[in-house]
Amino acid sequence: MKTLLRSLAGETLPVPPIWMMRQAGRYLPEYKATRAEAGDFLSLCYNPDLATEVTLQPIRRFGFDAAILFADILLVPQALGADLWFVTGEGPRLSTITGPGGVTALKGRDDIHDTLAPVYQTVRNLASALPSEVALIGFAGAPWTVATYMIAGRGTPDQAPAHALKDGDRATFEALLDRITEATIEYLDQQVQAGAEVVKLFDSWAGSLKGDDFAKYAVAPAKRIISELKARHPGLPVIAFPREAGDGYIGFHAATGADCVAVDDSVDAAWVAEHVQPDGCVQGNLESSHMVTGGDALVSEVRRIRDALSGGPHVFNLGHGITPDADPDNVALMIETLRETASVPAS
Ligand code: CP3
Repeated sequence: MKTLLRSLAGETLPVPPIWMMRQAGRYLPEYKATRAEAGDFLSLCYNPDLATEVTLQPIRRFGFDAAILFADILLVPQALGADLWFVTGEGPRLSTITGPGGVTALKGRDDIHDTLAPVYQTVRNLASALPSEVALIGFAGAPWTVATYMIAGRGTPDQAPAHALKDGDRATFEALLDRITEATIEYLDQQVQAGAEVVKLFDSWAGSLKGDDFAKYAVAPAKRIISELKARHPGLPVIAFPREAGDGYIGFHAATGADCVAVDDSVDAAWVAEHVQPDGCVQGNLESSHMVTGGDALVSEVRRIRDALSGGPHVFNLGHGITPDADPDNVALMIETLRETASVPAS
C-alpha cells in the first residue's frame, strides 16, 4: 500500500511519508514557466493539461510520497456564482456577500459542476499519470475559511467582516455556511469519483473562531462533510487542517471523524505527540521559513519533528504553505534528512 495511505490508516512507519503544502508553486522555475504559458493563475487551474503538469513537477523533481491536485479553494465560490480574480502581488478578490440576498443568489449544489468539470478532468489525468507509489490528494476549503473570502471579498488578517456578519446576522451567515458545505460535499465527491484517494479540508482561518464558534463553524461543518463523504465512499481517508486551532486540535479527530489532523507550526511537536497523535495520524509541522534559510537549523528541525512524532502515525509536512522565496535545494535537503536512517540520533 502507498505509504501515505498506510499512515492515514494509523500505521507507524519508520520513515513517515512526506509531501508539502503548495508544493506546486512559484518557488519552482518550471511552475513559473507553465503558469506563464497558461496566462494567469485561474487559467492554469482550469486547464487540465497544464494543471496536471504543475501537479507532477514537484513529484518529478523531489520524489514526494503524495501529489496534491493543483486547484484553489476559491474555485468553489466561483462555481457558486461569485466573481473571482487575482491581483498580482496582492492575492484574491471576490464579489462580496453582505446580506441575505447575496446568499439566495448563489447557485445550488448541483449547478457547480459545469465550472468545476476541468478540475475533475485534472484529477482523472493525475490518477493515470502518477507513479504507482504516489498517492493523490484532492482538497477543498473548509466552509468557514471559504466564507471569510466570500464575505470580505479578499483575504483579511483578522477575518473581521466574516465575524461581523456572523455576529450581526447569524441567519444569513449560517445559510451561507450551509450552501458552501453542501457544494463542498458534491465537489469532493466528484474528485473522489475521478480518482482522488485522500481528501484534505483546509480551514486556514479556523484559529480566529473562539469558544462555541469553533465547535459550530469549524468542527460541525467538517464533521458533516466527512461523514457524508465516508457514507458515499467507505474507507476514504480525510485530512483536516484547522490551522492555528491550538487546544482545538485536541479531540479534533474524534469530533469530526478525520483520519489525520494537520497542525501548523505554532504548536510544539512534543505537545502534538502527547495530546493529538494518540487520537490518530498527525501531519506537519515544520516552519516554512526553513525552506528559505536551510542549513543546520533545517536539518536539526526535521530530525526533531520526525523523532518527536515517531511513536505514532505521522505525515511529514510544513506547518503552512511553502513561500515563493524558498530555495528548492532546501526542499531536497528536508527530504534527504527525513529519509536518512531513522536510527541516526538527532544532533
Ligand atoms: O498545495 C498545492 O500545491 C495545491 C494547490 C493549492 C493552491 N492553493 C494553489 C495556489 C492549494 C491546496 C491551495 C489552497 C488555498 N488557496 C488555501 C488554503 C491553504 C492556505 O494556504 O492557507 C487558501 C487560503 C487559498 C486562497 C489563495 N490562493 C490565496 C490567499 C492566494 C494568494 C496568496 C498567494 O500565495 O499568492 C492564492 C493563490 C495560489 N493558490 C497560488 C497557488 C500556487 C499562487 C498563485 C500564483 O501562481 O500566482
